[in-house]
Amino acid sequence: MTGEQSRLRALEKLWDPFTEHSLRRAGVPAAARCLEVGAGAGSVARMLARICPGGHVTATDIDTRFFAELAAEERVTVLSHDVTQDGFPAGSFEVVHARMVLCHLSCPERVLAAMSQWLVPGGLLLVEDLDLAPADASPHPVMRRGLHVAEQTLEASQGSDLRLGRRLQALVTDAGFDLGGMAVQPVLIGDGGPADEFWRLSFAQLHEFQARNSSPLAGELDAAMSLIDRPDFTDIGMHAVSVWGRKPGGPLSDPLA
Ligand SMILES: C[S@@+](CC[C@H](N)C(=O)[O-])C[C@H]1O[C@@H](n2cnc3c(N)ncnc32)[C@H](O)[C@@H]1O
Repeated sequence: MTGEQSRLRALEKLWDPFTEHSLRRAGVPAAARCLEVGAGAGSVARMLARICPGGHVTATDIDTRFFAELAAEERVTVLSHDVTQDGFPAGSFEVVHARMVLCHLSCPERVLAAMSQWLVPGGLLLVEDLDLAPADASPHPVMRRGLHVAEQTLEASQGSDLRLGRRLQALVTDAGFDLGGMAVQPVLIGDGGPADEFWRLSFAQLHEFQARNSSPLAGELDAAMSLIDRPDFTDIGMHAVSVWGRKPGGPLSDPLA
């Protein structure tokens, strides 16, 4: 397994239960045609196929390597698709989901507008992203600094906004969706839970990037990483945010729901 694949699997482990809870609260119809944008290692595409036993899942990403095997599933289509460039016919889906994708795009507003086009009237949008704001109030200066360096590194290298989760609700309603709900979950770091591996692998990946550029920031990422396994350390690393809403224009009929 590649480092990136392991990191994506760790992300799934920490976030999937929260995603499933939000999808069930939002009310995903059992026969929905679902679009999973930026499917990563594929767990949410699998989850949607399970939640919608009479539906279909189109799982997309610019890099489909880590979930290509899903193409063998009867009700799943795997598609190489850049959500900022490539389209779908209007009204192709009853459900669109994207997790930790909008934060990496320079134009989340434009992409949300496109997602709205791809949904049927009454269709469900559920988007999820992180908010790194808890880092600002960390009582551990080494972790505070490490998380800020991680944030700056991703912003500089990929234009990512690791606080987009805080703006997500406003982005969804500004895109014209009727707000369905919002859920927020603190994600701990250093408690031996599922997020620890995600942070270890993320710090290691960003450390590599900074070290390649001979940056002194590499040392700060190292120092934060070594805190994770100390028995006297636990912190709130981020908030996971889910927001869902419906495209206006009619109830979603679902004969199998
Ligand atoms: C942080 S990962 C999240 C993966 C998955 N959504 C999850 O939460 O487990 C971001 C994913 O978005 C994909 N991605 C980034 N830019 C994209 C784009 N323009 N169109 C489609 N997918 C994109 C990446 O390839 C990666 O798989």
